[in-house]
Amino acid sequence: MAVRKATIDTLLQEDRIFHPDTEFNRQANVKHREIYAEARSNSRIFWAMQAERLEWFQKWDQVVDWQPPFVKWFVNGKLNACYNCVDRHLKTWRKNKAAIIFEGEPGDTRVLTYWDLWREVTKFANVLRDLGVQKGDRVAIYMPMIPEAAIAMLACARLGAAHSVVFGGFSPDSLRDRINDAGAKLVITTDGSWRRGKIVPLKKNTDLAVAECPTIEKMLVVRRTGQEVSMQEGRDFWYHELEVGAQVGGPCEEMDSEDMLFILYTSGTTGKPKGVVHTTGGYLTGVATTHHMIFDLKDSDVFWCTADVGWITGHSYVVYGPLANGATTLMFEGAPDWPEQDRFWAIVERYGVNILYTAPTAIRAFMKWGEQWPARRDLSSLRLLGSVGEPINPEAWMWYHKHIGGQRCPIVDTWWQTETGMILISALPGITPLKPGSATVPVPGVEADVVDKNGNPVLLGKGGFLVLKEPWPAMMRTIYGDDQRYIDTYWNKIPGKWLYFAGDGARRDYHNYYWILGRVDDVINVAGHRLSTMEVESAFVDHPSVAEAAAIGKDHAIKGQAISVFITLKSSISKEMDSGAKTRKEMQDELKAHVVRKIGAIARPDDVFFTAELPKTRSGKIMRRLLRDIAEGRALGDTTTLADPAVIAELKNRYEAKES
Ligand code: WTA
Repeated sequence: MAVRKATIDTLLQEDRIFHPDTEFNRQANVKHREIYAEARSNSRIFWAMQAERLEWFQKWDQVVDWQPPFVKWFVNGKLNACYNCVDRHLKTWRKNKAAIIFEGEPGDTRVLTYWDLWREVTKFANVLRDLGVQKGDRVAIYMPMIPEAAIAMLACARLGAAHSVVFGGFSPDSLRDRINDAGAKLVITTDGSWRRGKIVPLKKNTDLAVAECPTIEKMLVVRRTGQEVSMQEGRDFWYHELEVGAQVGGPCEEMDSEDMLFILYTSGTTGKPKGVVHTTGGYLTGVATTHHMIFDLKDSDVFWCTADVGWITGHSYVVYGPLANGATTLMFEGAPDWPEQDRFWAIVERYGVNILYTAPTAIRAFMKWGEQWPARRDLSSLRLLGSVGEPINPEAWMWYHKHIGGQRCPIVDTWWQTETGMILISALPGITPLKPGSATVPVPGVEADVVDKNGNPVLLGKGGFLVLKEPWPAMMRTIYGDDQRYIDTYWNKIPGKWLYFAGDGARRDYHNYYWILGRVDDVINVAGHRLSTMEVESAFVDHPSVAEAAAIGKDHAIKGQAISVFITLKSSISKEMDSGAKTRKEMQDELKAHVVRKIGAIARPDDVFFTAELPKTRSGKIMRRLLRDIAEGRALGDTTTLADPAVIAELKNRYEAKES
């Protein structure tokens, strides 16, 4: 790729431009810029054409039915997501193509062809059916990154049951809340999962959760780590025992395009996680299309998205997008630094990975570990790189480009969300000039804007709220069981215009490129994972020693943001600490462990700071903005609305003196 300085606008912070090279363009799935104008001139026809990628049992009779803020895509169309991801490929040469390449943390490997996958999925579906799972049910999945996680998802889809995958790093309490919110009747888990050579006891966690889940009737346990676990007679079943008698094959449920495919929980600004609902026809069309166009997928490619299936990125670009397209998708169970810091590069080398999709937080960790790790592996198979989860810093982009992409691979920086289901802002690698740090432009068929709080577009170069102006096929349909919260969260923030409010700030430069500025609400993005300040604070306040807590996201070199928490302790506890009965360090460790127990390891705060008082407005709102100023060592912003300005001044002095 050629580097050329932008000459148009000296105001740009980042003025490097990387133009697509002609060779990449010549072979690209999308070669011509006309696609944008075509999609804009009639987005319905555009999306209807894309839906032809799928096999429908019955065609739709209306492309889209938009009754803001509720939408239906491919109205009355009938299809099955599992059929599209598995069965239909058996009718082609792909039947013996690798569908899933798996590498486990301990180094074990498995390759499942589409035919293998069909056998495993149909068997799994028959086991679930025998355990009572039916169309319309909800099934919770709490598993590591092993093929059975994808198989379980597809088996649910085959039966017409919605899955709710809960990330294996979440705590029993988090699992319980998600199971109860969805009213799941069955949960699928494993005995354990591997984490840097140690076992995370998933079955035990599930037992703890399910003890408080009245809707759960059965638990299906896949063997992974092999340690002893207790099984409750009549409730718990080993998959490897039921699998023996299970039939291979069997039909797929015919699902309506708008039938629910899955629920996936994500953090919002208030305490309770939101069950984001995705349906079948639009979602699958959206992820298959974007996977094809943005990742430039060829039949010979090995595609590796490093996300866990517990997140939306794993749903859309490990499982549904790639498999709908008949791709070879790689699943890796472990961590990038186990047993050594070149694990990712060893995997790229071992399987000849062509397309790699990972997160800025990982890239920053690789930078820290040093370029000697990728340098000692053969990465010449790579031809395209992707990034997702948070804004990528230009330095990290340049490092990724040089040390991983060998300066020949385009980088697609993809902006999207759990709620959007599919990538909405990204380069198309054959045609879009790249600017490090910018997600570039909305994909064809998607209409975005940057607006002020009244919904009016802001001038180019100015910051505002990122919004979507038209419905897109893979958009969320609602929050499970709570239409009102769906309306309030995404549609009522900017009243009167039916603009989808993403919760991110953005600006556009003079080429109309989007620069995502991060969250504008109380959501903390730790290593690409969303946590709400409320959730973290509730977990702290739940501890008997804590009176009040304020959580903020603080800039962090690797994780993007880290959690800092300001705590006021109950006065009896403060006295105990003053008398030396318990040290501050002991208290901090105890509180950190408590939050990990309540939410999971991703919510472990980097620092816990004790304070007699929190800065509040006269109406009693905690001013997190000022706490962020303190934590990041900035001058304090506007303090005029504070009830007692002395509180913040003292807090700042003590924080800087590290006097927690
Ligand atoms: C952030 C992950 C900048 C953003 C797919 C969004 C990004 C939130 C990018 C969604 C990107 C994701 N550039 N920011 N390329 N991708 N984000 O739901 O704040 O886990 O709102 O979905 O991550 O996170 P979620």
